[in-house]
Amino acid sequence: MFGDFFKPGGLPVFRNFSRILPQGGILGVDIGTASIKAVELEAPSAQGMPRFRNYGILESYSHLDRLNTAIQTSGLKMLENETAELLKNLLHHLNPKFKNVVASIPSFSAFTSLLEMPALSGRELEQVMRYQAQVVVPLPLSEVVIDWTPVGEYTDEKGVKKQQVFLVSVPKETVAKYQSVFHQAGLTLKALEIEGLSLARVLTRGDPTETAVVDIGARSTSILVAENGLLKYSAQTDFAGASLTQAVSSGLGVSVRRAEELKKQKGLLGQGGEYGLSTLMLPFLDVILSEVRRVKDNYEKSYRGKIERVMLSGGGANLLGVEKYAAMQLGLPVMKADPWKQVEFSPEIAPVLAEVGSSLAVAIGLGMRQFSS
Ligand SMILES: Nc1ncnc2c1ncn2[C@@H]1O[C@H](COP(=O)(O)OP(=O)(O)OP(=O)(O)O)[C@@H](O)[C@H]1O
Ligand SMILES: [Mg+2]
Repeated sequence: MFGDFFKPGGLPVFRNFSRILPQGGILGVDIGTASIKAVELEAPSAQGMPRFRNYGILESYSHLDRLNTAIQTSGLKMLENETAELLKNLLHHLNPKFKNVVASIPSFSAFTSLLEMPALSGRELEQVMRYQAQVVVPLPLSEVVIDWTPVGEYTDEKGVKKQQVFLVSVPKETVAKYQSVFHQAGLTLKALEIEGLSLARVLTRGDPTETAVVDIGARSTSILVAENGLLKYSAQTDFAGASLTQAVSSGLGVSVRRAEELKKQKGLLGQGGEYGLSTLMLPFLDVILSEVRRVKDNYEKSYRGKIERVMLSGGGANLLGVEKYAAMQLGLPVMKADPWKQVEFSPEIAPVLAEVGSSLAVAIGLGMRQFSS
């Protein structure tokens, strides 16, 4: 998505992106608020899956100490130069073979909408989308780049064939910032896409089960609905991993760093004296889960869907005991996201990869994009 916009000579809004022919491999880079993650994938040999080469995670603890030093914030104050320095640091350790990048933009810096319209294609669909975008996108079209993907078809009550089209628009200013960051780090940014699209691809491709993906990051939680690799709906809340850490820190009167350690060690499973830990975190987790319930209800009401399961992704999915608790609260099957199903890797590194899977899901989905038809 948005790959065309890096071509010289302007911004061809409403052109479908023609994929870059995968040559060799690609780096998927996910710049979160608290970390940068990169995954290097090699092109599949024949009809196979892309091959995993390496990964790198650079975690910044500074977001815990001071709010405004997060790598990026929901006001999209991504600090270009600082981010480029962090990226260079990560690359120094990763030493990637490939310099072409597909990167993600947090869903909160994009405007997305699921539109329903008659089953059109080609030029006709383009015209309708141009009109629809003017109506729904909150910024003038001259200030944003726009892309869209048909994500589903259905026949309405009157027997008319209709389709659902997922529209994404991103401010041009945001695109320019990302270009600058990767350029400074000596990489070539080939395409940008919102992280929800990458998650939908990596977690639901080839699976028609309508799934709510809950990506619990440090500063924000994204809640998506996806099926068959396609993103259908996306929402977001500011309650996330840092809210749980903060609750432990103020509840126990310990530093945020200590609280972060305790959270990671004990999760919701602490016994006896540590029992207090889950008591402190649960109200915040409940806010996230009630948001999931709200998204489920909205989606099912508005788009005739039926969400059958929940996948937890992002660093917050590693909270011990969270799957069981969420399943109980939501009354749905809940599982931890496993992005490794979509790539090949040597079996001996499987245990290491399993631990970082939910954190790397976005980066893997970004890399996969280049090898998708
Ligand atoms: N084992 C663990 N148990 C509980 N929480 C964890 C664990 N490991 C990581 N986390 C939490 O996950 C969060 C970071 O998740 P992630 O790496 O997905 O964030 P991010 O992508 O940088 O942030 P965002 O998506 O908000 O921009 C932090 O709040 C961290 O405390
Ligand atoms: Mg994230």
